[in-house]
Amino acid sequence: MIAMPWVYIEDLSQHVGEEVELRGWLYNKRSSGKIHFLQVRDGTGICQCVASISDLGAETFAAADHMGQETSLRVTGVARADKRAPGGYELGLKSLTIVSPANDYPITPKEHGVAYLLDHRQLWVRSARQHAILRIRSEVESACRDFFSQRGFVLFDAPVLTPISCEGTTNLFQLDYFGERKAYLTQSGQLYAEAGALAFGKVYTFGPTFRAEKSKTRRHLTEFWMVEPEVAYFDLDDDMRLAEDFVAFIVGRVLERRAADLQALERDVTRLEAAASTPYPRISYDEAIERLKAKGMTVNWGDDFGGDEETALSEEFDRPVMVHRYPTQCKAFYMKQDPARPDVALCVDMLAPEGHGEIIGGGQREDDYETLRNKILAHDLPLAPFEWYLDLRRYGSVPHAGFGMGIERMTGWICGIHHIRECIPFPRMMERLEP
Ligand code: 4AD
Ligand code: MG
Repeated sequence: MIAMPWVYIEDLSQHVGEEVELRGWLYNKRSSGKIHFLQVRDGTGICQCVASISDLGAETFAAADHMGQETSLRVTGVARADKRAPGGYELGLKSLTIVSPANDYPITPKEHGVAYLLDHRQLWVRSARQHAILRIRSEVESACRDFFSQRGFVLFDAPVLTPISCEGTTNLFQLDYFGERKAYLTQSGQLYAEAGALAFGKVYTFGPTFRAEKSKTRRHLTEFWMVEPEVAYFDLDDDMRLAEDFVAFIVGRVLERRAADLQALERDVTRLEAAASTPYPRISYDEAIERLKAKGMTVNWGDDFGGDEETALSEEFDRPVMVHRYPTQCKAFYMKQDPARPDVALCVDMLAPEGHGEIIGGGQREDDYETLRNKILAHDLPLAPFEWYLDLRRYGSVPHAGFGMGIERMTGWICGIHHIRECIPFPRMMERLEP
């Protein structure tokens, strides 16, 4: 390996006593007049750099006094361990070079409103709290890939431009396709994942998905990332076991590798530790209705659950709960009906604890050609664009199941973040398309 000309702050522990170079940005500074204390960040951490006039020379020392927050700079100095320093290490400076100045940086340590911060999202992502959240998101995403790849799943990327609707027609983004026809932004890769499952046995899709949601809740984005496994010969029980193993794996991974970020967010990890082990509780929709009624909520059999119901149900458990067999009437056309009880579907929603709501939706798919064809018609969907999908039932249909997990909802729960808009680098919501 070629030695890098500079080191990253996260690796400073391996360089104690050595003279190293850091390349980064000024996060904060204070000065006693004789000594500057510069907080330098490089994306991997923050390091306190200490400089006196004799270290830097009068000119550089004076220039350093006027550097604005987020000035980019290169510094060299000797790394030393210091328990009082923020990351545990500090640098005794030998040189400082300003790469590019920054004046009047719009995000100061004082409080800003969320709208202002979202307007400056391109800069807000440099803040410590946003770093912790987005690093955890990144860990969640790599855990998803590792989990499925360890289990032999094939990554089967689904198209984003589609001719059909998967999750109902009321929240579809429509676009003009060469003036000749309509196209839609995908709501889910599932239908394509089903083709993949019948080809490869077990696959997953992972990509952006879109919902023209007119709901301005803390759990809804118009663009979000979804990971969707699909497995041939799986039934609902197999699907639920996969879902709980998957979520427990991700939580365990974040606890193991991102403890510092969870701490920066002041996340109570005892609330996550339970979720790192399985099994998770399972309750039927019928039982969920009874539990909600017992809590004095007005719900009727047949209603879909909203945020309030999900929060009330999740409060009763210390780890995610799986609610299965919702009424067929409130679920998508592709859901398989329970042969023992056609009024319910062989589906499952996983609800995160602490009121973070539904993180997974999925279930067993209708695998009978005639039944599926009739369901498409009953949902007022046109048959022609679904002919390819019906082929999966014409040629060697098998029972199969899968689910979709929203990356932002999962990240939001793990981080204990109230609104999922902070869990994606550039959130898209009904009232926000910028930056
Ligand atoms: O429950 P949903 O709509 O299920 C599907 O799309 C299935 N086709 C998935 C499948 O079986 N392959 O969405 C799945 C998950 C939800 O549980 C939630 O985590 C997330 O996607 N999600 C959203 N996240 C953010 N904003 C939105 N508007 C979301 N809608 C769904
Ligand atoms: Mg759902």
